[in-house]
This record gives sequence, structure tokens and C-alpha cells, in this order.
Amino acid sequence: MNKEDFPILNQQVHGKRLVYFDNAATSQKPQCVINAITEAYSTWNANIHRGTHHLSQVATAKHEQARAILARMIGADSSKEVLFTRGTTEGLNLLAFCYGEAFIREGDEIIVSALEHHSNIVPWQMLCDRKGAMLKVIPMRDDLTLDIKAYERLLSPRTRLVSVAQVSNVLGIINPVEEIIRLAHSRGVPVCIDGAQSAPHIPVDVRAMDCDFFVCSAHKMYAPTGIGLLYGKQHWLEQLPPYQGGGEMIQHVRWEGTTYNELPYRFEAGTPDYVGSYAWGVAVRYMQDCGMQAIAAHEQELTAYAEQCLAGISGVKIYAAGQPKAGAISFNVYDAAGKLVHPFDLGTLLDQQGIAVRTGHHCAETLMDALQVPGTVRISFGMYNSKEEVDLFVTALQRAIRMLV
Ligand SMILES: Cc1ncc(COP(=O)(O)O)c(C=O)c1O
Repeated sequence: MNKEDFPILNQQVHGKRLVYFDNAATSQKPQCVINAITEAYSTWNANIHRGTHHLSQVATAKHEQARAILARMIGADSSKEVLFTRGTTEGLNLLAFCYGEAFIREGDEIIVSALEHHSNIVPWQMLCDRKGAMLKVIPMRDDLTLDIKAYERLLSPRTRLVSVAQVSNVLGIINPVEEIIRLAHSRGVPVCIDGAQSAPHIPVDVRAMDCDFFVCSAHKMYAPTGIGLLYGKQHWLEQLPPYQGGGEMIQHVRWEGTTYNELPYRFEAGTPDYVGSYAWGVAVRYMQDCGMQAIAAHEQELTAYAEQCLAGISGVKIYAAGQPKAGAISFNVYDAAGKLVHPFDLGTLLDQQGIAVRTGHHCAETLMDALQVPGTVRISFGMYNSKEEVDLFVTALQRAIRMLV
């Protein structure tokens, strides 16, 4: 967990030391990951699979080794259960399309939660529109945790799938996914876990969790953009029709018809991002060398410390204060008359002091509606952040508040 490993962090922004607290949007990359990309294009780049020549065989081996590293990281039974996608969003769209084609009929129901990212809402809405199905939403309690009793009541004989985030990208809270999965399974309903905000921060074990599907994005895990994965239990993946048609996903193409490839290639039409997968594998090794437990403990300590500091600033309202969190805190600031200080103004003044935070709806407009705010300020941590940076942020925030209130 050496900040020096991340060259981008060693710079000034607006003449101030950069403090990067926008890790929930994307993380920075260690030098070993940057080197891996250069190495790939300098020494072994070639299109993978079916290549008879040396470079193609090396590239294929690197890509498949990366798949195995990722399968092990998330605790999958086999590499066959790990499909490469362009990211969490594509994983969810793939699932909504393929699962929808196979299993969703008019009048069926799909359950998501009130704190989902748009990526875990819109694909299901599109599926419901296509099939005449209904989207049901697990509400939150006053403390912004999910209302599990209400969830139990939502599960019905027409429920065909539940899809929820393991960690909220806005509130940072860790949802009780094991319980959500257990309750769904007791009624024979499969569950998809959106792991975009959990895989970077806490150890993930899809087998222990017993989820049926799991999605995440490499770029939030210290790896390049443009690649992610969809895990699916083999018996489910085997029942799904293909997603996109093209090269790689076929066994034979004849004018009379096409037969499809085996898992996982059946869902991977076209040339995959084999440089991205390789670099992702390097990033996973880097995280494992630091230790996933150690990363989680460090970030949870930072989150608790930041929350404690924020709670001491007059006018600050922390959302889901005191709940167990993995790396992100959302808050707003109110003036003495109770008027909201616009998050964008705070974000701009923080930026001028070198502090990178995210403001706005965080791709969760339905959650913003529930909170009755246009947006929040979100700080989110990576393994390289420190308490000293939290102190710099707190000083900068206090200065920004003095300027605005
Ligand atoms: C919980 C959650 N789901 C889905 C996504 C979408 O991820 P991507 O843009 O990498 O596809 C994000 C991104 O912030 C997220 O936080």
C-alpha cells in the first residue's frame, strides 16, 4: 500500500498537493499495471485464440491466466464461470438481455433496491418494457439501510430475479447480501450482486456468498478502463442464449445456421481486451500482495476517521452515518437557515485546494429523490489514501464552507 507506486498521485493540482478522493468513480493505477500495458504492446501483442504463431499463443495464455486469477480472486468454481465484459454496466446489460430472453415472461417480477446505480436499474427497466414484466424496489429504512422485512414481502411466486449492490456507490454502506440471497434462494429465485463497489474494497467470495451472478469493473480495482467481468454459476450460464453474435462466440457458422462456442467464449463476441485482462491480473496480484483484508481494514479505519471529523463540522449532514461502510461517504452542508449549500460549489472550492471529490447524483437519481436532494458530495477512498489526507480535506472543506455560508 505504497502511495509511491502510483505515479499520478505525486503531483500538484492548482498549485496544491493532490488528494484523490474520487476512487468510487475510478481508481488510480500502480506502476506495475502501467508497465504491464507497455510490456504487452512492446513484446507480445497479437490477437488471441486460433493463432498458430508464437505471439498469439503467448497473448492467449496471458489472457486465460488473467481469467484464472480473477476466478480465484472472486472464489469462482472454475474459469468457465468468468465472462469478460466491458465493465459492470455491460455485465448487467448482458444478464438482463440473456436472462430476460430465457426466463422473463409477461407479469414476471424483478427486484432491485432503492440505492442502486443506474446501471442496475435501467437494463431491468428496459427488460420489463420489452417483456411486460414489473420492477419492484426494496425500500430503505430511516437509517438508509435496506428494509429486509419489506424485501421478504416483495418476494412473490412471480419473482424471477433479484439484483442488488453489495456496496452502495453513494452511501458506501455494505448491504446484507448473504441474507438477501438466502431469502431469495428459499423461494428458488436467483440473485445477481453488483460488485462494482465491493470488489475493490472488501474480500469477495461468490461461493461463500452463494450469489448466482456477480459483476464488477477493472478500472475501480487499480486496473485499466474498458474491461470487467460477469460471473455466473455454470448451470445458469449454460441455460442462457448468447448476447452478441460475431467471432469467438461461435463453433461453426453455416448458411443453414450457427452453432455456439462453449463457456465462457459463447458470451464473448469479437476480439476481447486481452491487454486489459492481463493488466487486470497484475492489479489483482498487487492487491493480493497488499492483502485484501489489510486493504479493507485500512479503508474502514479511514472511513470511520473521516466520518468522525465530518460529524464535528457544523452544518454537515452525513448520509447513513454510523453504518458499516466500505470506502465511501456522502454528505451535504446546510447553512444556519437550513438551506442546502450546493454540492457542486463545494466540489469546485475543494478542487481549487487540490482535493478531488465527486458531486452530483452519482448515477443514482432515484436515491437522490429518496433523500430529497439534487446531489451530494462524495468522498471515496482507495488503498493509497491516508489520515493525513483526510485532515487536508477537512481543513479545505472548512475553508470552502466559510466562503459559501
Ligand atoms: C454500484 C455500481 N454499479 C455499476 C457501476 C457502473 O460501472 P461501470 O461504469 O464501470 O460500468 C458503478 C460505477 O460507478 C457502480 O458504482
